[in-house]
Amino acid sequence: MRVAMIGVGYVGLVSGTCFADFGHDVVCIDKNAERIEKLHQGIMPIYEPGLDVLVANNVKAGRLSFTTELAKPVAEADVVFIAVGTPSRRGDGYADLTYVYAAAEEIAKHLRDFTVVVTKSTVPVGTGDEVEAIIRKVNPEADVEVVSNPEFLREGAAIEDFKRPDRVVVGVSSERAEEMMRELYRPLYLNETPLVVTDRRTSELIKYAANAFLATKIGFINQMADLCEAVGADVQQVSRGIGLDKRIGPKFLHASPGYGGSCFPKDTLALSRTAADAGHPVTIVDAVISSNDERKAAMAERIRQAAGGSLEGKTVAVLGLAFKPNTDDMRDAPSLVIVPAMQKMGASVRAFDPEAMEEAKAHFDGVFYASDTYDALSGADLAVILTEWNLFRALDLERVAALLGDKTLIDLRNIYRPSEVRSNGLTYHSIGRP
Ligand code: NAD
Ligand code: UDX
Repeated sequence: MRVAMIGVGYVGLVSGTCFADFGHDVVCIDKNAERIEKLHQGIMPIYEPGLDVLVANNVKAGRLSFTTELAKPVAEADVVFIAVGTPSRRGDGYADLTYVYAAAEEIAKHLRDFTVVVTKSTVPVGTGDEVEAIIRKVNPEADVEVVSNPEFLREGAAIEDFKRPDRVVVGVSSERAEEMMRELYRPLYLNETPLVVTDRRTSELIKYAANAFLATKIGFINQMADLCEAVGADVQQVSRGIGLDKRIGPKFLHASPGYGGSCFPKDTLALSRTAADAGHPVTIVDAVISSNDERKAAMAERIRQAAGGSLEGKTVAVLGLAFKPNTDDMRDAPSLVIVPAMQKMGASVRAFDPEAMEEAKAHFDGVFYASDTYDALSGADLAVILTEWNLFRALDLERVAALLGDKTLIDLRNIYRPSEVRSNGLTYHSIGRP
């Protein structure tokens, strides 16, 4: 099939490349000329493990190309995907649909023959209706169906998630569009991936419900972590103890400094707005949102307490800035709240992140960016693990203790066993563990 993918961000580039790898002819289009130029040079505009090789293989095979010009690939496509950003609208938390609607308008002008236009971007219920209305207004003759096909991939594991998803969700109304979507995902359902075929509005809501549910699991275990600290219990064991119950499941029960990233924060907020407007507030999700915001803000205070009550004049080594490992994405990362709060408390910050430092530089003032982990620790009084990169899981703890003035390690991701850290002469603080 011929596919046009609008947007070469984390979702568009990964999806487009994987569709090409399935054997389809894919053209990826982005307005950002710098991103497209980089891709022509074989340089990835984002960090995603394994993506460079997969892109190179498919470009070489002639199935994948990149352009800033939408007209020709859209006119020739069987399926056009909209995979542009839907960030939180500044000030009110609604999903900003400007990019989606702009893409719909541009697509409309160039449609020929029957084309399926798919919103892969995460969009509030009813957006598909609006995309369809825009297309029909601009091009009343267009033979088109607008389909919803939300994406569930996680950054850092995006290729694996796309190629081996738990399910594919398609919101569609005609048989011919459904057939085309089935054909597109054929390699997956041959692998027995369940395909959930439903109507467009339900499909749009499934995406938000999934993200809100996962965010709720994290919010729940984070509150349990605080309770564990208050009553002398161990949150890791609580997670294991409840997660083995198949009705609960073991995933997304890892206590943390709060969830971040380009999806959970904005999508929970957008769902909250949709629900309130519909007259059915999702008060559980509202509570998750506020407890997560409070949690991120409380982390700096926790670090201050671990430092003996004051960060004034202290140097803090921050290990990890990205919202999770294996990505360079800084969107809504807990570090964006925690680092400035520590600076406000009088701390100097030496930070190291294996991939996110270039991105981070746009966000922080007065942070020293170290060349590696031990450079970050040199001259610091205490260290804080903010992101659980593998690199930080096997630190030479004796060396860490020798480098840190106050010999204090604060592990906000629980990646160490307390006994092993303490046996190396460090004071150790983690989350929800005695
Ligand atoms: P992104 O910001 O990384 O990329 C969006 C790209 O779209 C940018 O390169 C931008 O230049 C381009 N763009 C915007 N308007 C355009 C236009 N009119 N024509 C051509 N290009 C245009 O975004 P992302 O993280 O890939 O997210 C895309 C969508 O997918 C969002 O709705 C998001 O919620 C959803 N989503 C993201 C993830 C994730 O892990 N990042 C996972 C699932 C779903
Ligand atoms: C998420 C969804 O998982 C994915 O399905 C959706 O398509 C996009 O949003 P992503 O944001 O890439 O993916 O990463 P994810 O692994 O879900 O982590 C999100 C945040 O939750 C991170 O800040 C992470 O540290 C945090 N998290 C995750 C926890 O705090 N505890 C956990 O147990 C799991």
